[in-house]
Amino acid sequence: MEGIDVVSEALADLHRRLLALDGGAVADYIPQLALADPDCFGLALVSLDGHRYRAGRCDEAFTLQSVTKPFVLALALAELGAEEVGRTVGAEPSGEAFNAISLDPVTGRPANPMINAGAIAVTALVPGGDPAERFARILDCLGRFAGRPLDVDEEVYRSEAETGDRNRALAHLMRGTGALRGDPAEAVETYFRQCAVRATVADLAVMAATLANGGVNPVTGEAVVPEPVAVAVLAVMATCGMYDAAGEWMLRVGLPAKSGVSGGLVAVSPARFGVAVHSPPLDSFGNPVRGVAALRELSERFGLHLM
Ligand code: DON
Repeated sequence: MEGIDVVSEALADLHRRLLALDGGAVADYIPQLALADPDCFGLALVSLDGHRYRAGRCDEAFTLQSVTKPFVLALALAELGAEEVGRTVGAEPSGEAFNAISLDPVTGRPANPMINAGAIAVTALVPGGDPAERFARILDCLGRFAGRPLDVDEEVYRSEAETGDRNRALAHLMRGTGALRGDPAEAVETYFRQCAVRATVADLAVMAATLANGGVNPVTGEAVVPEPVAVAVLAVMATCGMYDAAGEWMLRVGLPAKSGVSGGLVAVSPARFGVAVHSPPLDSFGNPVRGVAALRELSERFGLHLM
């Protein structure tokens, strides 16, 4: 990518123009998320030499929601290995919505770890003597990706715990098919807490840059996960990260990415940089409207498409 000034100006320009972009709706099926400011918009990019670029509102913490999924997958892969994780969850794009009942009719496994069903099963795989210990490991790992300790938005956690019947149903179904280990209620509570971990878009860009850097955080220098794990996670993000819009995303943007219902989006240019956008209004796939538009433009302008 070009020099520092060019990248800074490109982000500032995107922020200025895309702030005016209408369309999309703030998620409200988790009541607390409906309170988000639809005009909140921040972009951050971290290069592998640790240089940080930013535009707009980058210091406001929001809950990461599904953006946690690739990072928790990385933790599970690092702790258990690909074979064991693969016995629980597939790696095929479902072509369905993020909350679909995408379970293989033969194996009972969820289609992939980026949809809710697969993510709940992966969360339950994280080693821990009890749910508190399992969640502590998840929180610690997310913090090491970000380069600083993160915490939980208890109000958003409670709001999802009060309304998350569909995820509870998915967990029970998976217990029935054998894809989910242990108690479904505990698995879902841990997953809700994971979704309610909060960070800023500046943190999120460091998390993405750590995946771009083969699992080594470019700001702290810590090896958070082994390189083959980071590569595997990027492959799953590339094929499944944008849900039923994954094909269109690969066509138009061409980078591994993950979105979340609070409006967060990460994308990774392997061996180059990580980029993150936060803006709450979502399209019909549950992907953030401004984030998708920003990455389309960035990819085109700087020739980032991997193919
Ligand atoms: O499980 C849920 O429905 C939310 N906690 C997370 C879903 C999500 O972020 C989907 N992404 N667009």
